[in-house]
Amino acid sequence: MDNIEKALNPAPVRILGIETSCDETAAAVVESGARIASSVVASQMATHGKYGGVVPELACREHLRAIVPVVREAVEQAGLQYPQLDAIAVTQGPGLVGALLVGLTYAKSLALSLDKPLVAVNHLEGHIYAVLLEEHLQQREEPEFPALSLVVSGGHTLIAVTKKVTQKVTRKATQQEISSPATEARLLAPLFSHRIVGRTRDDAAGEAFDKVAKLLGLGYPGGPVLDQLARHGNPDAVAFTKAKMKGNSLDFSFSGIKTAVLRYVQTHGLGTESAERAAFRKQHPEAGITELLSHTSSKTLDLLASFQKTVVEELLQHCLAAVETEDVNSVFIVGGVAANSLLRERFRGLAGRLPPVFFPRPGLTTDNAAMIAAAAFPKFQAGRFASWETQADARLALDQ
Ligand code: KG4
Ligand code: ZN
Repeated sequence: MDNIEKALNPAPVRILGIETSCDETAAAVVESGARIASSVVASQMATHGKYGGVVPELACREHLRAIVPVVREAVEQAGLQYPQLDAIAVTQGPGLVGALLVGLTYAKSLALSLDKPLVAVNHLEGHIYAVLLEEHLQQREEPEFPALSLVVSGGHTLIAVTKKVTQKVTRKATQQEISSPATEARLLAPLFSHRIVGRTRDDAAGEAFDKVAKLLGLGYPGGPVLDQLARHGNPDAVAFTKAKMKGNSLDFSFSGIKTAVLRYVQTHGLGTESAERAAFRKQHPEAGITELLSHTSSKTLDLLASFQKTVVEELLQHCLAAVETEDVNSVFIVGGVAANSLLRERFRGLAGRLPPVFFPRPGLTTDNAAMIAAAAFPKFQAGRFASWETQADARLALDQ
């Protein structure tokens, strides 16, 4: 390849991403933030399922057990040797501190031993960046900014206005690179700023799904199962009162609906059925939806459908209200709950009332390392490397 061709078609930047913020040990290799060469996710569902939620100490131990084989598998699946990687990216926070520490410490050691730069990524920015990765994978134009980002996961629920900030790179480019328009654009790769305009004051939306599912004996994590069962119920059967927010009306509250579900279970005699279902789930963790359906009354299905509809409408109404006051050109729906089928259907049905809506594919909405490796790419290009002193930060803010 001669020099001009090299400058116009720069070699892909191969970033290994590592994600250990909660209960998934994940590693992925993504090329130039746009092509997934490999993505491995080891779920700890079997470990935490027994306890109905994530147990931090167990998560930490499981990450320690899984991190080496998961990273090795990601590099192997990408068909690479470790020295061929250009950088190591890792989730710095937010998340469980012990869990984050496993990933960060391993990433630091790997970067140090390979003499490669380390890039620290905010987990929530990773979720948001999954939209850009999806559009690259589909070979579509990048969505227009500013974007309204709805982040809905098991740990977070917030609405942010995401802007692209173009920054000059700190790495010194060669004369050849500078003189090529293609590489100049690449070297001025964007970074992002996020301004939070609404957030939950108590539970996250995913947490509400998980807690309601646990209450009804559906196991952990409850979101995906609840999503499937709710399709068989009447979403208008149970009317829940809407949470009234004092102050910022774009804030959320999901603890009230969880308590309302508990009260409904008690007053409508659904407790025994829930306990029996929980025992059945424990004995048959592999049971499919058809089997679960045969252990679920129509009253419970109606309750699930009504709960799901209320949460989804709440998310939708807040986004509609936010686009009234915020000047945005796109809407990004990200995080584990963005996999919810009703949520996707309702947002898609709003064409015309919202700017274009973007979702990553389901495998990129729940926790994964491809989103971390992809989000690291603009930082890599801008020379924004993490120092060896970088600490795990359980409460790392999105809008710092
Ligand atoms: O983003 P994520 O994988 O982890 C966190 O960063 O928290 O989100 C996990 C959350 C869990 O609460 C899970 O129940 C929820 O996402 N979830 C869903 C669905 N799939 C995952 N909630 C509703 N419907 C789904 N289909
Ligand atoms: Zn997440």
